[in-house]
Amino acid sequence: MLRPKEFIEGAINKIKDEIGDEKAIIALSGGVDSSVCSVLAQEAIGDNLTAIFVNHGLLREGEAEQVCGVFEERLNFKYIDASDEFLSELEGVKDPEEKRKIIGRVFIEVFEREAQKVEAKYLVQGTIAPDWIETEGKIKSHHNIALPSGMVLNLVEPIRDLYKDEVREVGSELGLPEKLIQRQPFPGPGLGVRVIEALTRENLAICRAADAIVREEVEKAALNKQLWQYFAVLTDTKVTGVKGDKRDFGYLVVIRLISSVDAMTATVPEMPWDVIRTISKRITSEVSEVTHVALSISDKPPSTIEFA
Ligand code: XMP
Repeated sequence: MLRPKEFIEGAINKIKDEIGDEKAIIALSGGVDSSVCSVLAQEAIGDNLTAIFVNHGLLREGEAEQVCGVFEERLNFKYIDASDEFLSELEGVKDPEEKRKIIGRVFIEVFEREAQKVEAKYLVQGTIAPDWIETEGKIKSHHNIALPSGMVLNLVEPIRDLYKDEVREVGSELGLPEKLIQRQPFPGPGLGVRVIEALTRENLAICRAADAIVREEVEKAALNKQLWQYFAVLTDTKVTGVKGDKRDFGYLVVIRLISSVDAMTATVPEMPWDVIRTISKRITSEVSEVTHVALSISDKPPSTIEFA
């Protein structure tokens, strides 16, 4: 069984030994893994760590503010609003794999620019056990990463032997806010994989507003602890509706409430119907562009958790 206090002490000493007096960077997403790693590395090497939080314009409502609020004071923290850059590269792109590739490439470009500014030699990463166990044998425990510019960063992975529940225990011991520790997983490409059309500021705002209602209602009903993820997807389907006494033609939003232990498989659990109805009613009345809400009832497999 993990002893969080001892783990933290050991991890800090190990990071100190590995990085010494050199500079390091970490891509902080605000998820529990990168948050825990950022705090451990900051405790170990102080301001020689720069934690870079990139806003790609695909974040959820309130997310940038929340991450900045938690870390601005606690870390040597750099917030980069790169949303214009991401959205202009993504303009007109509908294919999900193409979107993912562009988001990944632009992320590396932005991150690399920042890494060069601080002359980092090390990259701290929040890899956890399930991330590498499946590919065991192919990954060495000490390895380097070459950025496209030719800059080579040594990888430091302080929590690579932990599982998610253990990372959460360490996060609690480090005094991170409960809301952040219990945060549901959120994919790197963000709302980019939950808006099926080519991305625009407008359709992202619709998805973001619907998603905020799903989160609010699920958390209000305290169902979040039973769920792996809970979110809204903005489809590219338009549906006839009636609002007031006028015909409307708006978007179909799908809500996805899913249970899982490791995201390899997932099931749709039974949920209180009143919560689902409230979510649906709120989305169609508060998000004017939406006329219809559907509930996804597909497990993984055969579906995946995300829609794209
Ligand atoms: P799927 O959709 O493959 O998702 O069933 C499994 C889990 O992985 C998350 N996910 C991602 N996480 N980058 C990430 O960091 C990604 O590109 C990505 N795609 C999916 C998803 O949210 C779910 O928890």
